[in-house]
Amino acid sequence: MIKYIGSKRRLVGALGAMFESSGAQTALDLFTGTTRVAQEFKRRGGVVTTVDVASYSEVLSQCYIATDASTVDMDALGQVIEDLNNTTGQPGYFTETFCVASRFFQPQNGERVDAIRNRIETEYKGSHLYPILLTSLMEAADRVDSTTGVQMAYVKKWAKRSYNPLVLRVPELVPGEPGLAVRQDAQEAVKSLGHFDVAYLDPPYNQHRYFTNYHIWETLIRWDAPEHYGVACKRIDSRSDETKSVFNMRRKMPPAFFQVVRDVQSDLVVLSYNNEAWVSRDELIEAASVHGHVEVMAFDSKRYVGAQIGIYNPSGERVGEISHLRNLEYVVVAGRRPLVERVCAACRSGVREQQMLPLESSRTER
Ligand SMILES: C[S@@+](CC[C@H](N)C(=O)[O-])C[C@H]1O[C@@H](n2cnc3c(N)ncnc32)[C@H](O)[C@@H]1O
Repeated sequence: MIKYIGSKRRLVGALGAMFESSGAQTALDLFTGTTRVAQEFKRRGGVVTTVDVASYSEVLSQCYIATDASTVDMDALGQVIEDLNNTTGQPGYFTETFCVASRFFQPQNGERVDAIRNRIETEYKGSHLYPILLTSLMEAADRVDSTTGVQMAYVKKWAKRSYNPLVLRVPELVPGEPGLAVRQDAQEAVKSLGHFDVAYLDPPYNQHRYFTNYHIWETLIRWDAPEHYGVACKRIDSRSDETKSVFNMRRKMPPAFFQVVRDVQSDLVVLSYNNEAWVSRDELIEAASVHGHVEVMAFDSKRYVGAQIGIYNPSGERVGEISHLRNLEYVVVAGRRPLVERVCAACRSGVREQQMLPLESSRTER
């Protein structure tokens, strides 16, 4: 799994318990990111549709959600990965841009990314292995990067892990009915995807854009060698409006998100947000109440790794101190009252050992 801001690693057990106790069969993961939550729903028997605007997220979904592990010849896949691991490095755009013009990866690893990515394109494009191999390469590169978790800056001294050789592994594919990977704006997608038993919505919380925070993965997947700018060598199209999301805009985000919450068609609607977000808990409760009874649960959560380490400028120098290391993750659940009560009870028991804050739970009648 790649390092990803806002990834719901600590909530996955709770969300999975909710999904299972709801008796749901179909699920929508509307801002799917790493697909971590969608994978958990699939593992628990769900047929899952994922939506995200990022190209790398679509590939992760094609690998983990749209592929049924039981239909893949794992021995053959293992051999392909072994063969790719034996590829000799050959410097190209990736090395020049992310290892020489910037220092996100050590050149010996960048050269192997270049060579392996070219082989995946020429030998596997169009095959069912294509998204699996791209995922394997992205995850391998993520294990040897030299960042604090986002690609807006690299650390001044090479990170220890960046000295490790790039090694592809077989992704942990998930067995189960293949779902659907949709790359589309969430606002559009909810209008056309139809009805689900459970919908999970986890939008961006602030102005930090995923397109720029993870521009290297966007380029690795598109393999389009874009013109770049700045110390972090961001894609030139980072400046264009098409790559900007309303969910990263202070004034536009709240009405856009409330509209999505209203538009989504689902028996159970589950929303994630935290106490650093631009929408208040009360506003979210009000928006969710179109779906019925609403309950809110709060979880204590460690902030993302960059916030824990400190704040750095694009040259990797420390320029800011950490404000605080923990925040509150809220989960808002809406639907028919008996269903909401049942899934919230399951959620509470599913995370007993974690940092759940029961006093923060609240109930709202429609
Ligand atoms: C908080 S992250 C989701 C994290 C995810 N739940 C996980 O566990 O990995 C928000 C996601 O919203 C996506 N996003 C941003 N704007 C979007 C839009 N307009 N439509 C759909 N997805 C969008 C980002 O690419 C990012 O992956």
